[in-house]
Amino acid sequence: MKRLTFFGGVFLALLIYAPSSYAQQNTSPVVSIIPEPVSLQQQEGSFTINPSTTIYLAGKDLERSATYFNEYLQKYYGFHLKVKKVKSGQDVHAGNAIILDYQHIGYPIEGAYTFTSDKNSVKINGDNAVGVFYGIQTLIQLLPTTPSQSLEIALVTINDHPRFKYRGMMLDCGRHFFDTAFVKKFINFIAIHKMNRFHWHLTEDQGWRIQIKKYPKLTSIGAWRDSTLIGHYGSGKYDHERYGGFYTQDEIKAIVKYAQERYVTIIPEIEMPGHSTAAISAYPELSCGSPKVPVGSTWGVYDTILCPSPYTFHFYENVLTEVMKLFPSHYIHIGGDEAPKIQWKNSPYTQELMKKLGYTNEDQLQSYFVSTMEKFLNKHGRDIIGWDEILEGGLAPNATVMSWRGEEGGIAAARLHHNVIMTPGSYIYLDHSQSKPADSLTIGGYLPLERVYNYNPVPKELTTEEGKYIEGVQANVWTEYMQWPTKVEYMIFPRMEAVSEVAWTPLADKNYDNFLKRLQTQYQRYKLWGVSFYKGNE
Ligand code: ACM
Repeated sequence: MKRLTFFGGVFLALLIYAPSSYAQQNTSPVVSIIPEPVSLQQQEGSFTINPSTTIYLAGKDLERSATYFNEYLQKYYGFHLKVKKVKSGQDVHAGNAIILDYQHIGYPIEGAYTFTSDKNSVKINGDNAVGVFYGIQTLIQLLPTTPSQSLEIALVTINDHPRFKYRGMMLDCGRHFFDTAFVKKFINFIAIHKMNRFHWHLTEDQGWRIQIKKYPKLTSIGAWRDSTLIGHYGSGKYDHERYGGFYTQDEIKAIVKYAQERYVTIIPEIEMPGHSTAAISAYPELSCGSPKVPVGSTWGVYDTILCPSPYTFHFYENVLTEVMKLFPSHYIHIGGDEAPKIQWKNSPYTQELMKKLGYTNEDQLQSYFVSTMEKFLNKHGRDIIGWDEILEGGLAPNATVMSWRGEEGGIAAARLHHNVIMTPGSYIYLDHSQSKPADSLTIGGYLPLERVYNYNPVPKELTTEEGKYIEGVQANVWTEYMQWPTKVEYMIFPRMEAVSEVAWTPLADKNYDNFLKRLQTQYQRYKLWGVSFYKGNE
């Protein structure tokens, strides 16, 4: 980031990487923004937001940003501001103003904005409404972290835009179920970090979480397990307590709307053909003749998978029809990971099908499964995302690959000119422990903050041309060992700060020491929000 500082009447045209909270010697308010903006200059002095400050909307469709800011102010500082509409470009002579407007920036990725604060006003100009919304997030990060009705913010000039188009977080609501209030909170965390995708993992071996009206047993049976593993895989201990829950379609509609108001796209994931034990427990006809199975009570990978039969395809087309009605996202995630082929090897039906299709191995059949579902979704104007196993046996023609078992799947897909979201386990799986030894029960693995921070989603193996297929990055939050929202918060904070900077800040401007200093303010903000977080990096 280019940071210029003006203090004490001396213009210091410095390109420095230390945040101004450290560089400054005066009483100007702290500037500590995460993700770090592309360029920022600070001047001496401050602008004060108080109950008589007015927000002026100088463009259309900017109400959401004003509403968001007012809700934030009300919640954490106990007041909100008047909002007035004015003509675009109209000079607002009034002082004590926050002016939201548009300005052509022309950056190819949505979300660019400029931000200027002087003694009289704050001006946020977005390339579009999303840019204005991100300018509001920057304004929020300039606010002091102590509640008051007189909020001094620094005088800054910022030009900012995202590095990647796809900046995502996944929450697994299958292993543990999180109520709608927490799902909304999680989406809000995404928005406030200038991220824009919520990958909602809705179906699993251990629970089917989305109401499908045509198949009520998916939730009356599939959303509930009789018992849950205690401790790590193989412990042999269970709690013998019924556990579950699901989201009604009305609840989902409300969550989609909530996300839209924050410019977050929800990508629903309906797993197939693996991780489908809960669906099969409700509708055993979905498998290739396996006996009735219960909803999973143990974590891991199950041999029970969906059968590539006309019944299953018809069933999942009906499921996806309801899913598409609920989720406007262009992309639907169809899973594709961890699908052992043992049942297909042993099934006369699948073996006969393979012969008919001229296939010699079951991976080709998985590709057939995924391609069949892809064709259906393509016909309805949607595209699929799948975990990197969808490369095995041949990649479906229009699929986007989520590379999780490392970067290899993403590299292979980019070389095939398929879009890629990078989410490799060893860099960006936030279910791994933040400390060594682990300070609480986790799935395993060790992923300290610095390793997340230093991750670069564009592998050096790719040419510049191939690198363009890397659409972005996503952190995954698998919840085998996150039973409560507070544990999710503890596992994502502060590593989500690092993820946001990986996703947003230009590679050349990243600096871990500088990030750690800015994190100190973020810790104070966590306290303001009342969220739990890991303190080992404090
Ligand atoms: C995955 O972690 N099984 C995608």
